[in-house]
Amino acid sequence: MAPETTTQGRAALFSPYKMGKFNLSHRVVLAPMTRCRALNWIPQPAMAEYYAQRSTPGGFLISEGTLISPTAPGFPHVPGIYSEEQVAAWRKIVDAVHAKGSLIFCQLWHVGRASHPVYQPGGAPPISSTTKPISARWRILLPDGSYGVYPEPRALKSYEIPDIVQHYRQAAVNAIRAGFDGIEIHGAHGYLIDQFLKDGINDRTDEYGGSSLENRCRFLMQVVKAVVSAIGADRVAVRISPAIDHLDAMDSNPLRLGLAVVERLNRLQQEVGSKLTYLHVTQPRYTAYGQTESGRPGSEEEEAHLMRNLRKAYQGTFMCSGGFTRELAIEAVAQGDADLVSFGRLYISNPDLVLRLEVNAPLNKYNRKTFYTQDPVVGYTDYPFLNKESGPKSLSRL
Ligand SMILES: Cc1cc2nc3c(=O)[nH]c(=O)nc-3n(C[C@H](O)[C@H](O)[C@H](O)COP(=O)(O)O)c2cc1C
Repeated sequence: MAPETTTQGRAALFSPYKMGKFNLSHRVVLAPMTRCRALNWIPQPAMAEYYAQRSTPGGFLISEGTLISPTAPGFPHVPGIYSEEQVAAWRKIVDAVHAKGSLIFCQLWHVGRASHPVYQPGGAPPISSTTKPISARWRILLPDGSYGVYPEPRALKSYEIPDIVQHYRQAAVNAIRAGFDGIEIHGAHGYLIDQFLKDGINDRTDEYGGSSLENRCRFLMQVVKAVVSAIGADRVAVRISPAIDHLDAMDSNPLRLGLAVVERLNRLQQEVGSKLTYLHVTQPRYTAYGQTESGRPGSEEEEAHLMRNLRKAYQGTFMCSGGFTRELAIEAVAQGDADLVSFGRLYISNPDLVLRLEVNAPLNKYNRKTFYTQDPVVGYTDYPFLNKESGPKSLSRL
């Protein structure tokens, strides 16, 4: 028996997994991906087809980053979950996914300073942990398709933070009302929560900042606790990317930061007597600028060391994401480096990715040019299936 196979001779990647109270039939997950197909922050019918196409019996999907409040957006045409209209629109999408036998979590998102007055109510500056703007190395996609410079944000006053925490809590409640099986808190990739976690951004002097890890983790942990108390720990997941410096989210010691978050999540799990659904960590190799614990772009070996340390320390289901191929995912699960692997770009271009990976079929190439465009079909739901029959049944009733 090859080391990566189960007793039935299947790679463990394609074997069942008990993710808390949820029974999965395989370990291949749809990674959360912003696709800009909503309108006026409201999910659209094409999204039901997109997610249903990527659903499998016993599979698990994570929604695109979904806005918790009107100050949360930093991309055009992304969906929210703070109004009744948004909840009703999401319900149709969730129903389409459930009809195909998959589970789906809603990723709760606030971009913080990665925004622009054009996206903010009243044209206000975006909010953050800091007044430092994102450097000119990065550009923001504007509603007309052009790219702009990130503006100077407004640092939140400490007394304003409980309101933001409350927005996450309400968004989680709304997600459950829309039928989602749970939520993932987006604490990664340089967005609002990461702007508090990373010492390369957070220059506050109050109880949410400074060199103290306790202070930098405070906002994330307040959000986690608020959401857990509202919908239960077994429906809550957290995503972090301690070693990814997307949007200048640098930390002087990514491993120490990651372990600090893990330690606090472990403690919370003990306190509430229930595990979170999973911890989702993005591999540094996803971006060219990925860091290692030494704070510099590093080797594959250093990256594996960082991921393995977080995996070993976290007492619960561990999901990895970033640059996975079929072979790397099979190996990661077989070696116990991950319980679940989320796929991003390959899942965009291969709606039946799970089948293709299982039978080792060729993969469709993705087209970056249509990642963030608005056409409800082109580059969205028109990637071909391996077998015509495995395509979705008509969703015209939705
Ligand atoms: C078009 C696109 C949009 C993305 N949007 C999100 C997002 O909304 N939330 C998030 O946490 N990650 C987002 N990501 C990152 C993915 O979840 C994933 O971690 C990344 O693509 C690496 O996996 P891959 O190498 O399999 O593509 C996005 C990635 C892509 C390509």
